[in-house]
Amino acid sequence: MSAVRHFLDIDDFDTVTLKGIIAHAHEMKAERKSDLAPLLPGAVLAMIFEKPSTRTRVSFEVAIHELGGKAVVLNPNEMQLGRGETIADTAKVLSRYVDAIMLRTGPHETLLELAENADVPVINGLTGRTHPCQIMADIMTYEEQKGSIEGATIAWVGDANNVAASWIHAAARFGFTLKIAAPKEYPPADEFVAFAKSENADVIVTEDPEEAAKDADCIVTDVWVSMGDADADQRKKLLRPYQVNAALMEKAKSDAIFMHCLPAHRDDEVTAEVIDGPRSVVWDEAENRLHAQKAILAWCLESKSKQLGD
Ligand code: CP
Ligand code: NVA
Repeated sequence: MSAVRHFLDIDDFDTVTLKGIIAHAHEMKAERKSDLAPLLPGAVLAMIFEKPSTRTRVSFEVAIHELGGKAVVLNPNEMQLGRGETIADTAKVLSRYVDAIMLRTGPHETLLELAENADVPVINGLTGRTHPCQIMADIMTYEEQKGSIEGATIAWVGDANNVAASWIHAAARFGFTLKIAAPKEYPPADEFVAFAKSENADVIVTEDPEEAAKDADCIVTDVWVSMGDADADQRKKLLRPYQVNAALMEKAKSDAIFMHCLPAHRDDEVTAEVIDGPRSVVWDEAENRLHAQKAILAWCLESKSKQLGD
């Protein structure tokens, strides 16, 4: 295995490493306004966005700033990448300038090709397949609200998309039950169902939202139409029965929380009553992207941090 510490997917890691990163995130959140020396002075993070972003862009930019470094935000249309330079060549060139690269893209293969050709850590800032940084922040948020997620029951209700896929990886590594309710047209991809089975993870897939929500500690959903999805009208029709509303929240435990990675579409996948109500923790989730990603950057660049500390 390469000595370069990429952060590509949750299933690449063992439980101890993942829990260590999240514990560090909690520590850094508690220390945020203190005057402790930053961990990564002078580190430069390049960020390539092939898709739009609010949270990922701002939270990573603030994260590297708070660690003592700086970000270079790159738009592929303003790079030679947009004129046909290969991702492999881009990886090799950027590796000579920067200490880490974050990529948001559609095809997961693009992320893998970047990582294969980069000499510096590559971080998955969302692909069409997975969104691991989001789920690290979500586990951190769950722990803040309710304690350890081990043994808890999380209900995913809606499109079993890229965010749901990283929840499946997390169920295997953190030891919680994940009940996914999705229409038969938008189930989790076979590879994730096979992964859950091979890992003996407690992942249940149903078409019935009430079955998933029953006695859950947390209900999670996401947009019905992800970036790059073409069939918006069909999705909105088929996913309508999967809306998270007050009646569905009633099926969960009385102290259940509601999560959504955002951006949200009120009165599509979730009612305003739920997302703006007392059980919603979506703003903490958004904030925790910052803290979780500081810990991910610190883990990826631990050897650099040690050099700087010598
Ligand atoms: N949740 C999330 O990744 O948000 P952005 O698309 O705004 O980065
Ligand atoms: N599933 C969504 C997540 C956005 C953060 C998408 O891929 O567009």
